[in-house]
Amino acid sequence: MRRKLAAGNWKMNGLGADLAELERLAAAPAPSQTGRLICPPATLISRATLVAGDIAIGGQDCHAAQSGAHTGDISAEMLADCGASAVILGHSERREDHGETDATVAAKVAAAWSEGLLAVVCIGESLAQRDAGETLALIGSQLAGSLPDTATGANTVIAYEPIWAIGTGRIPTLEQINEVHEFIRTTLTDRFGGEGHAFRILYGGSVKPENASEIFSVANVDGALVGGASLKADDFQAIIDALDAA
Ligand code: 13P
Repeated sequence: MRRKLAAGNWKMNGLGADLAELERLAAAPAPSQTGRLICPPATLISRATLVAGDIAIGGQDCHAAQSGAHTGDISAEMLADCGASAVILGHSERREDHGETDATVAAKVAAAWSEGLLAVVCIGESLAQRDAGETLALIGSQLAGSLPDTATGANTVIAYEPIWAIGTGRIPTLEQINEVHEFIRTTLTDRFGGEGHAFRILYGGSVKPENASEIFSVANVDGALVGGASLKADDFQAIIDALDAA
């Protein structure tokens, strides 16, 4: 019922030459059950759309305002204008590096929707928060604060990314992933009713070809948001294949 999604977040990596990796991904047969999304740095979005085939291209952030005096920022309209169809919002690296709050993220989500972009909203706890037993409370408050009331499964994807699993090679146990994804599903259905079942919930944090199948076997894991392993076509393709087969 929910179409699976393999999303790659290139973060601040990638020059023109790296579009060859995207071209290789696009040359592979399209998976039957799984959508594909690559979010390169903003500098590559226009060129990426030219080689991406039916792989969707997204941004990694947008400003909440449509235009104006915000040096260095990019609006949702600009992303859409250069061919993006999605945008990652509220990634923990932006929450940390740029002081983004849930309210900032919610405003950006609304801006993304107003330009027809799919919002990929990231949430997740730090190791200190997990060790303090605060994970589910934090996830609940991030969801409450980062999602406007008109969120639907069609305009929004949730990405659960425990901060301590990002770029560390360390992943939560399958039980921990299951617990959080089930909690996110329940929180969504409590708030949005039956529509809560329509949201894709991605897991992110050290997803690799070697661990993808077991992660995708967990209930309510509808795909992945992949950092490092999305930079190489072979690795990301292996993750796509594992997801499509799950
Ligand atoms: P890694 O896959 O490199 O751990 O990054 C995860 C992530 O932050 C994706 O947004």
